[in-house]
Amino acid sequence: MSTLNNGSPVVLETRKLCLSFGALKVTREVDFQLRSGERHALIGSNGAGKSTLVNLLAGVLQPHSGDILLHGERINKLAPFQRVRRGLVRTFQISALFGEMTPLDAVALAVCQAKGAGLSFLRASAVHAEAIDEAAELLCTVGLVDHIHDETRFMAYGHQRLLEIALALACRPKVLLLDEPAAGVPLAESRRLFQTLAELPSDLSILLIEHDMKLVFQFATRISVLAEGALLAQGTPEQIAQDERVRQSYLGHKHE
Ligand SMILES: Nc1ncnc2c1ncn2[C@@H]1O[C@H](COP(=O)(O)OP(=O)(O)O)[C@@H](O)[C@H]1O
Ligand SMILES: [Mg+2]
Repeated sequence: MSTLNNGSPVVLETRKLCLSFGALKVTREVDFQLRSGERHALIGSNGAGKSTLVNLLAGVLQPHSGDILLHGERINKLAPFQRVRRGLVRTFQISALFGEMTPLDAVALAVCQAKGAGLSFLRASAVHAEAIDEAAELLCTVGLVDHIHDETRFMAYGHQRLLEIALALACRPKVLLLDEPAAGVPLAESRRLFQTLAELPSDLSILLIEHDMKLVFQFATRISVLAEGALLAQGTPEQIAQDERVRQSYLGHKHE
């Protein structure tokens, strides 16, 4: 495995991380590093354990052994919401509750929750106005400025995915985890979604799972490859494209 790095500090790390579902080892001694400001893609065949790794990082799943470190601090035992408070945020699917709200109200609510108070906070008008301003700014960042008053459940699929990113940004992440953010989105819209992600502040570190190798190689500054739960390779897009084991086991002739 390549250990070359770009010199930026490691923000999120796993050490010998393991998880099994019954007899099936889905995460095998994974030593993974995400560095500050990286646009990091996690790739691998279906069932390779990509979503499982992201769920372990987010705290949705608990490892059987090994460690997860955020800014050097062990976070294995922290619940998902505690990780969010420390800046480790994964996107989540828009819930039915948000479906009937406008993007502006939904993101304003998320902003209030990130500030620590939720609905009661939202009712205080001064705070409300502040949250609305912040929400509008976030929606502008993800390119939804023309849709802030739409009804969320009727929005185009690609726009809903962008809203999910705005909701995650409302939590003020330092590390953003995305599991196939463009799944089911038409190609033109997924290009735009990746462009939006690429333009997020450079001090935000991003780890995402994506199947489309064209998008991956355009977007990523670093790529990790999982195969049967183990980290097969980690490196720059150039290193990964030339890695013989990766080509044989995964890329094949898809990325010539
Ligand atoms: N909750 C679960 N219980 C049992 N097996 C699971 C569970 N979640 C995932 N798996 C299995 O673990 C393996 C890895 O799954 P996953 O992490 O979703 O892969 P990927 O995201 O790379 O497609 C697969 O074989 C899958 O069937
Ligand atoms: Mg998956």
